[in-house]
Amino acid sequence: MNMIKLKEETGDPALLSLEEAKAEAKGEAKAGAEAGPENGPRPWEDLFGHQPVLREETLSALEVRPDGLYVDATLGGGGISRGILERLGPDGRLLALDLDPEPLEWAAEWGRGDPRLMLQRANFRDLKKILQKLSLGPADGLVADLGLSSRQFLTAGRGFSFKRSGPLDMRIDPDSSVTAADMVNGLDQVTLAKIIYEYGGDFHARRLARLIVERRGDKPFETTDELAALALRVGSGRGRHRLHPATRLFMALRMAVNHETRSLAGLLSDARGCLREGGRLLVISFQSEEDRLVKELFKGTEGGFKAIWKKSVTPSQEELGRNPRSRSARLRGGIALPVGEC
Ligand SMILES: C[S@@+](CC[C@H](N)C(=O)[O-])C[C@H]1O[C@@H](n2cnc3c(N)ncnc32)[C@H](O)[C@@H]1O
Repeated sequence: MNMIKLKEETGDPALLSLEEAKAEAKGEAKAGAEAGPENGPRPWEDLFGHQPVLREETLSALEVRPDGLYVDATLGGGGISRGILERLGPDGRLLALDLDPEPLEWAAEWGRGDPRLMLQRANFRDLKKILQKLSLGPADGLVADLGLSSRQFLTAGRGFSFKRSGPLDMRIDPDSSVTAADMVNGLDQVTLAKIIYEYGGDFHARRLARLIVERRGDKPFETTDELAALALRVGSGRGRHRLHPATRLFMALRMAVNHETRSLAGLLSDARGCLREGGRLLVISFQSEEDRLVKELFKGTEGGFKAIWKKSVTPSQEELGRNPRSRSARLRGGIALPVGEC
């Protein structure tokens, strides 16, 4: 199978831009149809540059009913959405959300002409309102694959990765007002330390916050490189799998810029009301605080769900080998209980 990676905005000319990949995909889809079914459909998620994590486990636990209504709260490259569409019959429907316009633009291409697919640019914490606005009843299943797609990480201009030289931005929704640079240059030292510790779990949080405040007095931070260089001054991480010192700092800032924990808490608190009895909620998280919130929802029956698994599902050795990004992923799921039993 011909894999296409997208051009990083650092300008590797060997890779394709989104526009180029789309153009190529159109040609390829045509070529694929001509080549016959033995070649299988083109994996659009590969074109987007994102390999969905725990995809088969998620789709199989969702137990898609052919005529059901499903919600993919985090469309991204569409790997999960496409899996749901493949399992749906002609009367099934899928509502897919993303806060970032690019995945929706992409899905408008790969999903063109499929009347079962509804796309909405929205924050998943507003799902209940969106279902009401679209006059859609409670759903049969809801999936949230949290965090970012590889496409977002790899695009230097988005500023998510300390490995890519770019502006210190980190907004998932490019129309939101506060960037990572605004936070790093504007927050007081105590707040910065709190964010770095709470969202990043970084034991160097206080030292990092002090260094940031000292350094920005000379010149405000503008780029990912400047912040990554500062993080290097606090040493090389702990543990068996040593992380780059900027890893946790960047994750913490991204979570703060996008209010990620607050959005997840909103989604989880409304999830039962968005599902019919017996409907399934599947959440893949990559960060311990997020996993804690999901675990809490499925503990006992008070959250309105019966847990599908006692423990979280983690990637197989095969998946870890194929996709190292999956190493921190945890999948949890629940089945919506009758309202009286919650
Ligand atoms: C890990 S990716 C999803 C990948 C997708 N499941 C796939 O198979 O390609 C997460 C996506 O969720 C989106 N996202 C993050 N926070 C969001 C939020 N609060 N509301 C809606 N979308 C969000 C991101 O923009 C990103 O596209």
